[in-house]
Amino acid sequence: MKLPMTYILGIETSCDETAAAVLDGDGHILSNVVLSQLDDHRPYGGVVPEIAARSHLDHLDRLIGQAMTEAGLQFSDLAAIAATTGPGLIGGVMVGAVSAKTIALCHQLPFVAVNHLEGHALSPRLAAVDGEALPFPYLLLLVSGGHCQILAVEGVGRYRLYGRTIDDAVGEAFDKTAAILGLGYPGGPAVEKAASEGDGARFGFPRPMVGRDNCDFSFAGLKTAVRYGVEKLDDLDRKTVCDVAASFQEAVAEVLQDRCRRAIGKFRQDFDTDPALVVAGGVAANQRLRRALSDLTESEGIRFSAPPQHLCTDNAAMIAWAGLERFRLGLTDPLDIKARPRWPLVELKGHANG
Ligand code: KG4
Ligand code: ZN
Repeated sequence: MKLPMTYILGIETSCDETAAAVLDGDGHILSNVVLSQLDDHRPYGGVVPEIAARSHLDHLDRLIGQAMTEAGLQFSDLAAIAATTGPGLIGGVMVGAVSAKTIALCHQLPFVAVNHLEGHALSPRLAAVDGEALPFPYLLLLVSGGHCQILAVEGVGRYRLYGRTIDDAVGEAFDKTAAILGLGYPGGPAVEKAASEGDGARFGFPRPMVGRDNCDFSFAGLKTAVRYGVEKLDDLDRKTVCDVAASFQEAVAEVLQDRCRRAIGKFRQDFDTDPALVVAGGVAANQRLRRALSDLTESEGIRFSAPPQHLCTDNAAMIAWAGLERFRLGLTDPLDIKARPRWPLVELKGHANG
């Protein structure tokens, strides 16, 4: 359904990016402002929740103003306002949610409480992502710093969990591998860069869960194998660092391919149709992993979809988009809805037409 002249503001503050974006009713991105707090957290080698919350507080108002100015709109032009209300670091989530609710209250706008994971999950449906619309149902591989799961997406708010990690998330494995190799923080992009110069066949790291008769993941053993492998080396020169990074990345690629292959089979049984395979979340920015998944979909004869890189890592355009999808279905929320540190996708309320 098209809603011309509908504009929505989205706000994201659940981790270490402060972000605001405005979309029109067709999902065109009018503005998409992201302020990374990387430099604030780098000295600690990871995100410090209290620093994150204070930084969101310092910058969010200005970023919202910037997003509205770039879109050329006033708050009174908006049809709705959406914000991440979980899951995430609760202090930061509260900063974004309270700011959004305040604007909604002052300007009498409907408020949409967006699950951050649903933001990632629906992002490939965003008009800017792909010329061709992505219809429900599809298969979603959600891979980020805190999440690693594979789900059937039946509609807005309607998810069937096929498998998830039993220990570390894949982004966490990238971050820890980077720390072991002294590549700094954040780990994912640093490991990918080193891996691009390395020999992925030099170290035979394990492929946890490959061949198992389910769709679950496990990365703790792989991370430990990297640590032991590195401890055994006499010299960790640049060439060796790159080879370890590439060998680690190859192991992850093979695991993701195997787990997705199994999920594709399950989806075919459940829905009696071929799925499109969609990858989302920060780790989806990794070119080698995208290629591995794209190769898999080619051999399975199914469609592959991934948001462009800047929409893979945390941003507010995906929150505005998920808010727009919900708003179109009449799924708005009361202003007393609570921020939630934990909020699994399968607990979301669905909609028959979603
Ligand atoms: O979705 P995201 O921005 O934040 C949440 O965790 O929600 O994902 C961040 C994660 C981090 O673990 C980061 O290392 C990883 O995504 N990541 C990558 C790449 N870019 C970001 N992992 C592998 N390769 C990348 N290029
Ligand atoms: Zn995220």
